[in-house]
Amino acid sequence: MTALLDKLQETGGLERAEWLRLLNAWDTPLRDDAMARARSVTQSVYGRDIYLRGLIEISNHCKNNCYYCGIRAGNRKAVRYRLLPEDILACCAEGYALGLRTFVLQGGEDPWFTQQRVVQLVRDIKAGWPDVAVTLSLGEWPRESYAAFREAGADRYLLRHETASPTHYARLHPPALTFAQRSACLYTLKDLGYQTGAGLMVGSPGQTGDSLADDMLFLQALQPQMVGIGPFIPHRDTPFANAPAGSAEQTLYLLALVRLLLPAALLPATTALGTVAADGWERGVLAGANVIMPNLTPEGPRANYQLYNHKNATSARERDAIAGRMAAIGYTVAAGRGDHAAYLPQHATTTI
Ligand code: 5AD
Repeated sequence: MTALLDKLQETGGLERAEWLRLLNAWDTPLRDDAMARARSVTQSVYGRDIYLRGLIEISNHCKNNCYYCGIRAGNRKAVRYRLLPEDILACCAEGYALGLRTFVLQGGEDPWFTQQRVVQLVRDIKAGWPDVAVTLSLGEWPRESYAAFREAGADRYLLRHETASPTHYARLHPPALTFAQRSACLYTLKDLGYQTGAGLMVGSPGQTGDSLADDMLFLQALQPQMVGIGPFIPHRDTPFANAPAGSAEQTLYLLALVRLLLPAALLPATTALGTVAADGWERGVLAGANVIMPNLTPEGPRANYQLYNHKNATSARERDAIAGRMAAIGYTVAAGRGDHAAYLPQHATTTI
């Protein structure tokens, strides 16, 4: 197996049968080997810097009905909210004062947030704080909308692919949502010049070694700048209420493999990983993660942004505590936007 890790590092990819072997037959020593390699790869690209992103959960209204998600349209028990643009700008002001230089606007697919409203929001944030990066995580849109958001100044877009197996995708989503559509959105985002994020839940119902091999081959082909990987965690008011949660151990293994596959990727130690393990963020960083996404959503609505139960969100107000936790494992919370290492903003190439 270590020969496969060598090959992955040397050639930047594996064939399907090789991925399958690596994904199916792993144990703690192999995981620890992958994690040690992943740490050293991360350090060679980004040093020991950890980037913070301020997460603003702008709405939990959603027109979709994904079977795993607590804010699915069919969950009548969810207490719905949406932040007004002025509330969102207030979150940015607070985050900026805390030193954050990336804001992530995440929400369900809420029809109130029309293309025009999102465009205005992005413009307002960029006008108010020109030195921040704006990341959107607002689901699937037509190309024109993604282009309009980009034109307004959006820098990055997170859209987890969830699973790259079409049959597994159909097990997790209603028929209106397809992997073909999700994949097309991701390629469009990359084409429009977004730093683009894909990703998946580890241990989602029906996930197999085969579907994970599909995921790795998809990431290998897409070459996203960001990848979000966290364990699946059941939500009591969804069809998967009784499914077991994904394990921290397997999540760390996959995180490490993705780091070896994509050396320059921005990889978060996710909220879900921090939920299944109290030291999930630290262990994520030690498996190659270099991003942490503390929460900037006001406390009232935040309690209702429940994609899964027992969500353990850490407030951006605890910035010093987060920095302390990183310092304790030898890492430093960095200032600045923390762009993808291979990403050069256009002005950097034209002003010489
Ligand atoms: N457990 C873990 N992650 C979840 N997400 C949605 N529901 C769950 C759940 N029950 C993840 C999805 C989505 C991201 C915003 O949150 O991968 O893309």
